Amino acid sequence: MCVMETELNINGQNQRLDLAPGVTLLEALRDYAGLTGTKYGCGEGQCGACTVLIDGRAARSCVIRAADATGRKIVTIEGLASGHGLHAVQQAFLDHAAFQCGFCTPGMILGAVALLDQDPSPTASGIREGLQAHICRCGAYPRIVDAVRAAASKNKGSRRG
Ligand code: FES
Ligand code: FES
Repeated sequence: MCVMETELNINGQNQRLDLAPGVTLLEALRDYAGLTGTKYGCGEGQCGACTVLIDGRAARSCVIRAADATGRKIVTIEGLASGHGLHAVQQAFLDHAAFQCGFCTPGMILGAVALLDQDPSPTASGIREGLQAHICRCGAYPRIVDAVRAAASKNKGSRRG
């Protein structure tokens, strides 16, 4: 099978992967880079489970060819925490038990990070609207909204400090 060396910047590291043509970014992350935190839900850009950040914006990795992500900064759930601990959104999801099975959680968290980047103080309805394209089959939406609000107010507090 023909493969193509493709360099991707994932979680701050350049990685060279030998990928078959047409491999999606989701497949590259999970099957070639071993980063299985990014989930395969629908494979059609409809559920949000595969969301990663590309250059700081939420993107559905199942509908993006890996080759099209070269030269861009990709962040997966594995790369979100810094050396100082969990990202504020990750911590808020834990504090608010904002999941049941956890399948939607990595994509939901990265979607929330991108949302807070665009709007640091969203209302509850703004959060629901911002994350409406993320499906949680367990129906944990109320706790997810609580968690994102908590992360927003923590960020606000830390900016004041
Ligand atoms: S797996 Fe990509 S949006 Fe559903
Ligand atoms: S926690 Fe199960 S799909 Fe969201």
